[in-house]
Amino acid sequence: MTDFHTHILPGIDDGSQNLEETRRLLAQELQQGVTHILATPHFYAGRDTEEHFFRKRERALAAVREALAADKDIRREVTPSSDPCSAEMRVEAEQKMSADADANHTDKTRSRVLHTNDETVQAGGLPGRLETAGGGNLPEPETTKSSGAGKKTVPEIRAAAEVYYFPHMGEADILPRLCMEGGNLLLVEMPFVQWTESMYRDVEKIIRKQKLTVMLAHVERYREFQKDKGVWNAVFDLPLYPQINAGSLLRFRSRGFVLKFLKAGHKVLLGSDCHHSEYRPANLAAGREVIRKKLGEEVLREMDLLGEELWEHAGK
Ligand SMILES: [Fe+2]
Repeated sequence: MTDFHTHILPGIDDGSQNLEETRRLLAQELQQGVTHILATPHFYAGRDTEEHFFRKRERALAAVREALAADKDIRREVTPSSDPCSAEMRVEAEQKMSADADANHTDKTRSRVLHTNDETVQAGGLPGRLETAGGGNLPEPETTKSSGAGKKTVPEIRAAAEVYYFPHMGEADILPRLCMEGGNLLLVEMPFVQWTESMYRDVEKIIRKQKLTVMLAHVERYREFQKDKGVWNAVFDLPLYPQINAGSLLRFRSRGFVLKFLKAGHKVLLGSDCHHSEYRPANLAAGREVIRKKLGEEVLREMDLLGEELWEHAGK
């Protein structure tokens, strides 16, 4: 299981601020059976120098890899083929909260709802929620306790970036360096405005001229700005992969759109877009459970196959 959108690297953007927080997010990922993590720190052209960004990313990645190699409390036995029990518990709890919210159209029943600058997420009140005092040892996950036949592994992390759209992006020669390590998968964050023809042309150039594999970040978050659906429809006719945030499946406001989008047959990849273990947690398992219940196991299976294919072969 792959998380294609995370802000899990420490101290590089508005995601994890230190290695302790990264450990907590990693533990959440592992408890849910995530085996592959794409680290996608924000990249804003013109705001940061390119070399500074790459230097920071390299340092952060090295620190995480070192921690994974050395810290026995992050090493886990996981069974990649199935979601672990602990994740199911989290799913049930999150779904119950979500269903309650749907029924009442109010936040009264939620244990706690936190508003961030661009998303609303639920936090707290979930059984099995991981917490460590000062980033210390993490509790033994259910997966390790229950799956004696599990495969010893640590999550594989690859660096990439969430590249915010900029004019003439289609011609920018920095893009290949911002792709997933060892591949040509590029996570592009589109502007939160009505999309224009020139934006479309840039995306098209990235795909057709630069020959990169485009994944559009959290597509559910742009739709409200697309009063005119012309460019929107044209963009999704391009050979690209929409990425959806798992959290969007837990919220009444966005769930209907996402399920409809999936039913329309788009080849979607899931990401948690995790920033913080409480405020914007790693929540892939909960989102997957909604898909499983509403659309069936086959949709998840196809999503996983696509994910494996892109992880291994994008650009090769
Ligand atoms: Fe993000």
